[in-house]
Parts: sequence; C-alpha cells; structure tokens
Amino acid sequence: MLSEESAAVVRATLPAVAGALDEITTRFYGAMFRDRPELLDGLFNRGNQASGAQRRALAGSIAGFAQALLADPDTRPDALLARIAHKHAAVGITDDQYTIVHKYLFGAIAEVLGDAVTPDVAAAWDEVYWLMAGALIAREARLYQEAGVLPGEVWRPWTVVERHEETRDVVSFLLRPADGRPAPPARAGQYVSVRLRMPDGVHQLRQYSLSSDPGDDLRRITVKRVAGEAGAPDGEVSNLLFEQVGTGDELTLSAPFGDVSLDDADTPLVLISAGIGCTPMAGMLARLAATGSGRRVLVLHADTSPDDHALRAEVRETVDRLPDAEAVFWYERPGAEEPGARTGLMDLTGIDVPADSTVYLCGPLPFMRAVRGQVLKAGVPPRRVHYEVFGPDLWLPEAA
Ligand SMILES: Cc1cc2nc3c(=O)[nH]c(=O)nc-3n(C[C@H](O)[C@H](O)[C@H](O)COP(=O)(O)OP(=O)(O)OC[C@H]3O[C@@H](n4cnc5c(N)ncnc54)[C@H](O)[C@@H]3O)c2cc1C
Ligand code: HEM
Repeated sequence: MLSEESAAVVRATLPAVAGALDEITTRFYGAMFRDRPELLDGLFNRGNQASGAQRRALAGSIAGFAQALLADPDTRPDALLARIAHKHAAVGITDDQYTIVHKYLFGAIAEVLGDAVTPDVAAAWDEVYWLMAGALIAREARLYQEAGVLPGEVWRPWTVVERHEETRDVVSFLLRPADGRPAPPARAGQYVSVRLRMPDGVHQLRQYSLSSDPGDDLRRITVKRVAGEAGAPDGEVSNLLFEQVGTGDELTLSAPFGDVSLDDADTPLVLISAGIGCTPMAGMLARLAATGSGRRVLVLHADTSPDDHALRAEVRETVDRLPDAEAVFWYERPGAEEPGARTGLMDLTGIDVPADSTVYLCGPLPFMRAVRGQVLKAGVPPRRVHYEVFGPDLWLPEAA
C-alpha cells in the first residue's frame, strides 16, 4: 500500500516525472549498459533498445502503475504486472537485479529532474518502485516455482527434429528436448524465449509462441523473417533462424511462459489474428482438437494473400475436424486457393460474434485496436478480450 504522504508527493510530481520519463529511461539504459555491459549479452533485446520500444514500455508501465496506485493505494494492476512478470520469467530475471535497475533508474531521475528531486520526492518514488518491484518479484517467484525451475534457470537445450518452410518468409521448427527430460508443461497460447549467439558473439533472446499442441512431447515454433523497413536493418534473430538453423541443430529455449492462454471454459471462442499473429491461435486450435473440444470456435484471420498466410492449410484442416468450428479469412490480394475468402482488411460486419465469447487477438497493434473496437461493439465485455503483442506492450499501460 502506498502511504498517504507518499501518495500526495507522487500525485504532485507525476506530471513532471511522466513528462521526463523518456529522457530518464534513455539515460537509465545508457548508464546501466555502460557499467554493466554483460546485461546486453543474453538479457536485453538490442532491437528493442535501438527502436526505443523497451524504453517506452518501461516508462509507460511505471507511469501506469503510479496512476493505478493513486486511484486506489491498495490496488495492483493485474494485467500490467502479469504481462511484465511472464516476460521477465521468460528471460530469467532474478530478484537481485532489481537493486541494479533501481540504482541506475534513480540515478537517471536525479540527473534529469535535478533539484526538483528533494529527499521527500525521492523517498515517495522509491516507495512506488519497490511496491512495483515487490509485486513483480513475488509473481516471478511463483512463475518459476510453477515451472519447476530455480529462479532465472529457465534454459534447456532442444534439438530441431524437423524444419518446415511454411511460406516464402515463414519457417517452422519442430523441437524435442535434447537433455532427455520430458517437455515442460505449457498452456496453449504461451511462448518460449529462444537464446541465440549472434555472429558478433553477443547472445540475443526473442520470444516465439508455441504453434502446436502444448500437450505434445514435441514443441513447434513458427518464425517469420523480419525485413528492415525504411533503411532499418533486417531482424537479426529471425533471419538467423530462417537462414541458418535446420534439422539436427540445437537451440536453447526457455521454459514456456505467457499470461495470454486458452481458458478452459465451454463458452464460444473467437481466435482473431493477422499475419504471423496466427501462431498462438494455431497452438490453441491444436489443443482444442487434441482434447476433442466441442466448443463453438470462430477463427478469423487477415493476411496479405493466401500464399503469405502461414499455417493456412493446417488451420483449415483443424477447423474441419472440430465439431463446431468455422474459419473466415481476409486477404488484401485474394487467390484461387481460398475461393471463399473475403477481400481487403478484416471487417466483422455480418460475422456473428456471440457476446459470451472469449476473444483472443494477435497481430500488429493498429490491427488489434481496430478489431477490438469491433468486438466490443458486438457486445463482448472488455474483460473477455485478450491480446498478445509480439514486442514490448505499449498498449497495456494505457489500460492499467
Ligand atoms: C510474446 C511474443 C510472442 C512472439 N511470437 C512470435 C511468433 O510466434 N513468430 C514470430 O515470427 N515472431 C514472434 N514474436 C516476435 C519475435 O520475438 C521477434 O520480435 C521477431 O522475430 C523479430 O526479431 P528479430 O531479432 O528478427 O528482429 P530485431 O533485430 O529485434 O528487430 C526488430 C525490429 O526493429 C528494427 N530495428 C532493429 N535495429 C534497428 C535500428 N538500429 N534502428 C531502427 N530499427 C531497428 C528492425 O528493422 C525490426 O523491424 C513474438 C514476440 C513476443 C513478444
Ligand atoms: C520495477 C522494475 C521493473 C519494471 C517496472 C519493468 C518493466 C518492464 C516492462 C514494461 C517490460 C516490457 C514487457 C512487455 O514485453 O510488454 C520489461 C521487459 C524486460 N525487463 Fe523489466 N522491469 C523492471 C525490472 C527489471 C529488472 C530488474 C531487469 C533485469 C535487469 C529487467 C529486465 C527486463 C528485460 C530483459 C526485459 C525484456 C526486454 C526486451 O525484450 O526488450 N526488468 N520490463
């Protein structure tokens, strides 16, 4: 709980702190990586550092958390904390690291805000930081325990038993544990981190959703190679996986984590995706088929063309096997392979989305924003609409 004195100080200084968060987080990461370069090797995603996405996610989450505390000092914004804790667990964060982050974050705050950071102001924000850190540390401890691993020790070697080209830009890897132990438990919709050594020797982590039934001994990830746009470089991990990893190779994977996973209700399900956002949906569908689910399932997917639509045939087949499932696809450039598909961007007009559905969304943020609006208009309450962002979540803090 945030003390009353601190709440007053945080309320008075929130606009100044929030306004300076961009500069604060830039300085924070700069100083931390200068003093602790090992954190950039095998922990932080340097693509997200370069694009500034991680900085904005960190800043947004702190401001969102502070705002939630001011609205209700006893509250803990659940969705925000769950998203961060799962991501932290998937990269193996340990509680001692919160002291390092604290040191550099508060050093940056003092530098940027200067004399405005009186001892009272520093103490109040310290309280906010440790309330948030404490909540995250507790959640992360629980996640490690549930995964049956020691804190931070999430990594295991896996062998690629099959590589399958899905489209010209998307490849799937079927994986088996290389240490002879059973595959760890996972829920449909969850993801793993892949840890790769890059050509310059630095290790990088990226998350990939499980695209096959997580109840299986074998696990599958499906990766789209990211092309750099407007002069930006090509995505480094996805292109390395696409170009250099094949059958027989070994990959280092984290235990599965992720707060967005298939519920076990029997109400209708609506799985909505665009592009490579189809992967968690494919995992959920495979799970439904494996468990003989009779749920009403509506699969809605938008893509550039049938040729670019990864896992298209598999999704169709799975939908056909389920007793009460239906799929509708939208393509910007339709093709003869999917004669019933609609043309253009996804538009839910005329699609029956039952108000008691659980809805899962995955795709680019503008796509999810637009479709979420349509789903809410159809009468589905916001708490039933779940979404996965394939990058730092810049949407969630707004809702905290
Ligand atoms: C929960 C979750 C699940 C995911 N599931 C999947 C999945 O199932 N399948 C899948 O394919 N992906 C998935 N992703 C995305 C995946 O984790 C990676 O983000 C993706 O593969 C790109 O990684 P990369 O290393 O290739 O790109 P990066 O090198 O990280 O680059 C990412 C972007 O930043 C840009 N960039 C890099 N450096 C710079 C620079 N210096 N200046 C400007 N821009 C720059 C790049 O052009 C690119 O657009 C998921 C992500 C999350 C968080
Ligand atoms: C109160 C303290 C912290 C807050 C508020 C915080 C917040 C966040 C947020 C918002 C994200 C992005 C989540 C998403 O993907 O949507 C994130 C990811 C991450 N955090 Fe933290 N974090 C904290 C502490 C730490 C600590 C102690 C470390 C360890 C050094 C750490 C390392 C990371 C890493 C490596 C990622 C993934 C980065 C990426 O993929 O770009 N965080 N954190």
